[in-house]
Amino acid sequence: MSSPDTKAAKLIRKCVIPAAGLGTRFLPATKAVPKEMLPIVDTPTLQYIVEEAVAAGIEDVVVINGRGKSSIEDHFDIGFELETTMRARGKTAEADKLRAIANLVRIISVRQKEPLGLGHAVLCAKSIIGNEPFGVLLGDDMIDAEEPGIGQLARVYQQHQKAVIALMEVPDSETHMYGIAAGKDLGNGVIQIDHVVEKPKKGTAPSNLAVIGRYVLPPSIFPILEKQTTGVGGEIQLTDGLATLQKTEGLLGYKFQGQRYDAGDKVGYLKANIAYALKRPDLRGGLLEYMREVVKTEKS
Ligand code: UTP
Repeated sequence: MSSPDTKAAKLIRKCVIPAAGLGTRFLPATKAVPKEMLPIVDTPTLQYIVEEAVAAGIEDVVVINGRGKSSIEDHFDIGFELETTMRARGKTAEADKLRAIANLVRIISVRQKEPLGLGHAVLCAKSIIGNEPFGVLLGDDMIDAEEPGIGQLARVYQQHQKAVIALMEVPDSETHMYGIAAGKDLGNGVIQIDHVVEKPKKGTAPSNLAVIGRYVLPPSIFPILEKQTTGVGGEIQLTDGLATLQKTEGLLGYKFQGQRYDAGDKVGYLKANIAYALKRPDLRGGLLEYMREVVKTEKS
């Protein structure tokens, strides 16, 4: 018998991973390599995110990609030549690991011809998602948690039958950098949102609950996004679409359990590398030793 969590996740069969942004904060690294393919230790950020979706029971992953993003498709495909060469050299275990990436899940690539914003990126998946609720996982946002981040939201969606977005408390000094949501606390980490705004000007945020890159949305978000005009930064913002959805159907927030890393930000990316390296028995000792040395030198 499947657990309630597994059943909750089964409700969400498809997800969208937008990965078509320009990644300007990571130039020049992202001139030819998508930021979603930059490694956290030795694994691309995007692979962790796809693995999170798979762990939550998602069957179809729609990756939105843009110019120069063919490395994303190659990464999740069979690397025939590399694998054959490795097997010929007796590196069977390593070749098997590569094959496992290709077998992870069904990946469907959709091109966003121009990076017109996150809302537009999600809209690009409309015909593949069809008429069912779906998950959205941002391609540069990592959640390290026992229960997969998107699975947590799928569970809340199942309980309330309403769109749900991940929320995280941030310091007041940082609210202008995020979408911010406010509303009534329904208990167990669930918030009935009555206000959501993209990057509010300093001192105007309605709360300190930031919208983080995980969402479970109904297909009714698509006609909303189709009608939507550009918002902050001249982009079609998903947050503006969520504000409309909140007014028409209602919107929940969920204070997810787990550690989030913003791998699209340099400090967030470095923190993710350190955190994931510290979890690796083969790297932990050497890294800790180096970190102790650095702290000692910085203090002196
Ligand atoms: P970001 O705003 O973090 O990505 O979007 P960006 O625009 O690439 O970043 P910078 O500020 O220039 O460094 C969050 C996610 O949404 C995707 C991005 O690829 C990222 O994974 N995105 C953003 C799209 O797919 N299309 C867009 O038009 C915008």
